[in-house]
Amino acid sequence: MSLPLDSDVWHRVIKSDRIKSGKKKMKNIGLRSIMILREDEEIRVTDALCRHMAWPLAYGGKVKDGCITCPLHQTKYDLDSGEVKEWSPFPLFPMYGRLLGKMRRPSPLAVHTARELDGWVEVRLSN
Ligand code: FES
Repeated sequence: MSLPLDSDVWHRVIKSDRIKSGKKKMKNIGLRSIMILREDEEIRVTDALCRHMAWPLAYGGKVKDGCITCPLHQTKYDLDSGEVKEWSPFPLFPMYGRLLGKMRRPSPLAVHTARELDGWVEVRLSN
């Protein structure tokens, strides 16, 4: 008998009414930290930590035009694909942000599948 892969399993992570529109929450599924955010009625789930220097995006991340921007050095990710739109551009002067950006290669934010069922937000991890 084989166990299901984690990507085959739906995890109940939070009651739907605990996440209001425009809010973000950080939760764990095992050792994996995820961020749940609701925009209007849509739930989105990504990994919780910025790929640059692991800032928790639920704390101060700005959501605009389908992207989330990390408050620390303003790395920006597309919320649908996790693609990096900008990597550590802040601060511009002196070139501190760009220097810090070289500490780690740009890499996408993992985006997970989410649904709401029976009053719960459920998440299926992407990888
Ligand atoms: S930690 Fe997020 S941009 Fe640096």
